[in-house]
Formats: sequence, structure tokens, C-alpha cells
Amino acid sequence: MADAPMIDFAHLPHPAPVPSATRDQALADPGFGSLFTDHMVTIAFDPEHGWHDAKLCPRAPIPLDPAAAVLHYAQEIFEGMKAYRWEDETVALFRPLENARRLNASARRMAMPELPEELFMESLRLLIETDRDWMPTAEGSSLYLRPFMFATEAFLGVRPAREYLYCLIASPVGSYFKSGVKPVDVWVSRDHTRAAPGGTGAAKTGGNYAASLNPLAVGVENGCQQTVFLDAIEKKWVEELSGMNLFFVFKDGSAITPPLTGTILPGITRDSLIQMLREEGLQVREEPYSIDQWHADAEKGDLVENFACGTAAVVTPIGSVNGPDGKFVIGDGGTGQLTQKLRDQLLGIQMGTAPDPHGWVVKLD
Ligand code: COI
Repeated sequence: MADAPMIDFAHLPHPAPVPSATRDQALADPGFGSLFTDHMVTIAFDPEHGWHDAKLCPRAPIPLDPAAAVLHYAQEIFEGMKAYRWEDETVALFRPLENARRLNASARRMAMPELPEELFMESLRLLIETDRDWMPTAEGSSLYLRPFMFATEAFLGVRPAREYLYCLIASPVGSYFKSGVKPVDVWVSRDHTRAAPGGTGAAKTGGNYAASLNPLAVGVENGCQQTVFLDAIEKKWVEELSGMNLFFVFKDGSAITPPLTGTILPGITRDSLIQMLREEGLQVREEPYSIDQWHADAEKGDLVENFACGTAAVVTPIGSVNGPDGKFVIGDGGTGQLTQKLRDQLLGIQMGTAPDPHGWVVKLD
């Protein structure tokens, strides 16, 4: 963890927040990622002052020098997490320290400064508290939090920048997929990979997502909602989707998820589900799984359920796998029983309606 003294946040409330009637109307059906709350948090970094100039302020465009390093060399990292509003008005986060730690792991990989965990946590508390009225109440909805950091120094030489901005914005969200929680069809990219060994695949950096966009668009052109990436060396091992980890559930009571070998994102939902599956009595293996085996196991009926997971997607069933070589269906193409159970259990923990034996939930005072 990066140590630094706690700094004070300036509070600059919005002079003209969105009127409550407009806000409440928007909250009725927020969709994903296009509705934003009134405020944001920013904290600047430079070597002389360390982290400084922390403020909660109206959400607004950020002035940026056209030579800012992020615009040229993509020094940028982010996190995705959610705040949940319980029926008794408790506001809860799910394993937020894991996000703080992963942000700093990404920072190390991208040669960026680490943000002290207490500053990260304070930024969450401040923004959620200030924009609490933006928390949706509809079932399955939450306040999506997007902490991110990028290089602001105006310098065109190629080296780690010296100046950065950490920023936190919030977006009320419903389901990530327009189809809700119906099974998604995925497209296997044979021409493109997302990350190579030794690269930045395990960091949550925008470049990984940028690399996934063209193959994602190809998948969408072919009627799919997500694209599956294979490993960069043998183009054989299943890695992850554009923005979600994958699980395979077999009829013998075992499950596989691809291992964290540095090319895939170490998902916090992924880690939680490994534990939950083990508690369900499944033998979970973190081991490579090939595209050919995937096809064969689905055709034989040995693979009975398949799902994607992540903060945004929660647990989303996969209905069919498509690609240049054809299509195969998972189970009966619907939502598997275990997939549904895990989704309900996870949402139950997050929404405070199910026991939280691991102490994953952090309540905000
Ligand atoms: C998340 O699940 O929060 C992600 O970051 C994936 C995607 C929305 C970028």
C-alpha cells in the first residue's frame, strides 16, 4: 500500500444540480453508463507536492493540455465498482479495498503513482454521500463508480509522465446488457488477441479495452453481444471477454476459469465466485481451457453452464458461442440453474438480503 498523510478535500457543491424531478425520471430506467451524477472528485499528483489539491466539485469537462501524455501514450488506468442502496437506506460497497489494491497494481504496471488506499476510500465516501439522491432504487440497479487516473503532464518525450489526475465519477445504472439478464451470445475472435504475455493484460488500463473494440464490433456485426479472446501465442486457450471473466461449469460438479497468468484481468467478481462455487461443493480449477475443448464439451453435454462475470455484468449466462468456424449452444441455450443461483446469491450479499459470511460488504456511515 502507498503511504501518505491524509489530505483535506475542498468541497465545492454544484451551484445548479439537476432538479429532483428530472433526476428521478432519469433514475427510473438508467440503462448503463450514460447518466451521471452532479459531482466528481479530483486529486492531482506531481513529484513536488505528491497527491494534492483534492476536491469534490461539480462534474464538468476537465481542462487538458493537447500535449498531455495520456492523449499520446495512453497512460490511463481505471476501476469499476458499485454502491448499493439497501431497503433500510444503508449504502454498501462490495470489497472496495480490492479495487483500491488493483488500481495500485495497475498503476505500478503503467509506471504511474500509487494512490493511498485511504484517499481512494475517502473519495468514494465523499462522492456517494454528496450524490446519495442519485442512487437508484429499482431492483438490479446501483450506483456505478468509476475511479480513474491519467497522465496530465504536457510532454511528448516517451517516458513516464510526472503529473497525473485521479478522478472519480458516478453513474446510476441498471443492467449492463440491453437484454437484461438473458443469456448473451459470444463471438470468438480468431484474428485479434487482447493481450500478450509480459504485456498489460492484467492491468485495468484503457488500452486493453481499446484493443478489444474492433473485434467486439465484428462480434456485434455477427449478432453477438461480446467477443471471446484467445491467448496470443497458440491462439488456442480461452482468456476472457472484452470486459468480463469467464466460467465453465461441468456436469461432473466441477468448474473451470482461466488462470491469472498476467494476460487477463484479476476480477474481484471472479475471485468471489471461485469462493462461492467452492462453498456450493464444486471443485473449481483455475486452469487453461481450449476453444476446441469448449466446443467438444458443449456438444457432448459435459459442459452444462457457462457464464461471464464482472462488476458491470454481475453474473451473465452465455447462450451460444459463435465464430468463423460455426456455432455451438451451451446447455439448452437458457440460463443455467447454478448461474441463476450464483447471480441471486451475489446480488443478495451486495443488496444486504443474504448473509455475508466473508465480510465482503462495507457499509458507509
Ligand atoms: C466492470 O465490470 O466494471 C468493468 O470495468 C467492465 C466494463 C464495463 C469496462
